[in-house]
Amino acid sequence: ELQEQHQLMDLHRDAASFYFNCLKKRGNAGARYLAGREWSIETIKRFGLGYAPDQWDALCRYMSTKGYSNELLEKAGLAILSEKVAGNKRHYDRFRNRVMFPIFDIRGNVVAFGGRILTPEGTPKYLNSPETLLFNKRHLLYGLNIARTHLRQHTLILVEGYTDVITLHENGFQNAVATLGTSLTPEHAGLAEKTAKRVILCFDGDQAGEQAAQRSIRIFRNTEVEVKILTLPHKTDPDQYVKEKGAEAFEQLLQKAPTAVEYQISLIRRRHSLATVEGKVHFAREASDVLKQIKSMVEREAYAARVAEEIGVSKASFMEELQQGKRSFE
Ligand code: UTP
Ligand code: MN
Ligand code: MN
Ligand code: MN
Ligand code: MN
Repeated sequence: ELQEQHQLMDLHRDAASFYFNCLKKRGNAGARYLAGREWSIETIKRFGLGYAPDQWDALCRYMSTKGYSNELLEKAGLAILSEKVAGNKRHYDRFRNRVMFPIFDIRGNVVAFGGRILTPEGTPKYLNSPETLLFNKRHLLYGLNIARTHLRQHTLILVEGYTDVITLHENGFQNAVATLGTSLTPEHAGLAEKTAKRVILCFDGDQAGEQAAQRSIRIFRNTEVEVKILTLPHKTDPDQYVKEKGAEAFEQLLQKAPTAVEYQISLIRRRHSLATVEGKVHFAREASDVLKQIKSMVEREAYAARVAEEIGVSKASFMEELQQGKRSFE
């Protein structure tokens, strides 16, 4: 198995260099697509981006000249066995006419690929390698091989996509990492905990992004990681935001990012009117449910004091609600 792991790593490295070289061919569609994303040559090289040509078996043919069997390519998830030609084993490339994003493990080995379609529409937008001996997406954070040695204030920035990581890195935020088309897993949170003290969640500014933030906050509760939430304007993502507004504006959002507790309380506040007694009661009750989750007594009391002041009751009576969970405002 160890030997097969080695073979698969060599195979991925060679495949990545094939895709990268295809980007250099004159007039290829991948280079034209990447020109539109406006990343520098250095960035493209650093992330090893490439192009899978618009052919059935360009990779298979190239890799056979390097001595790799189609069966090994299939095991790597880069070739697919055609079922149409019965009795006659034919393989074709999984990735065709896509911009290729090598996926690196924590040591910087290529272990999988993501391939983006070149058109604005069409599905799937990203095609990813299947799980293999090398690649388990529940355990892998894209960009962590770089981010782990480029933390800023002991902090990781967690985003949704490949392109968000790349644009952030290019703009000096080399501590950005992404999950790969899955929601955050406990394994991801554990990786983050081993690497950093703080994680700033920066998901897309849409409904899905907000839900992902809520879910991630819950998962991080089982770790010692301090979580903050950066909320982007509606319908934008970190890549678009930094390209439109610049690194300085993004830095401001990072600085202003509320803690997970502040964020959750602000969502509750948004749902209730503090102008009525009933609204205050509901707000206090739901806020106390959030505060009960805080392990540190000091921290819990500090937030409690703020909420009490906001609804105009004494801290003592709000603490009672907190400690007994009894409906003292009813
Ligand atoms: P997004 O749809 O937000 O993509 O999905 P994006 O990164 O902003 O892509 P661009 O800017 O349109 O190129 C976020 C992430 O979810 C995964 C990918 O990892 C993607 O980066 N994803 C998305 C998939 O795996 N498959 C898909 O079809 C779509
Ligand atoms: Mn989205
Ligand atoms: Mn995007
Ligand atoms: Mn996005
Ligand atoms: Mn309510």
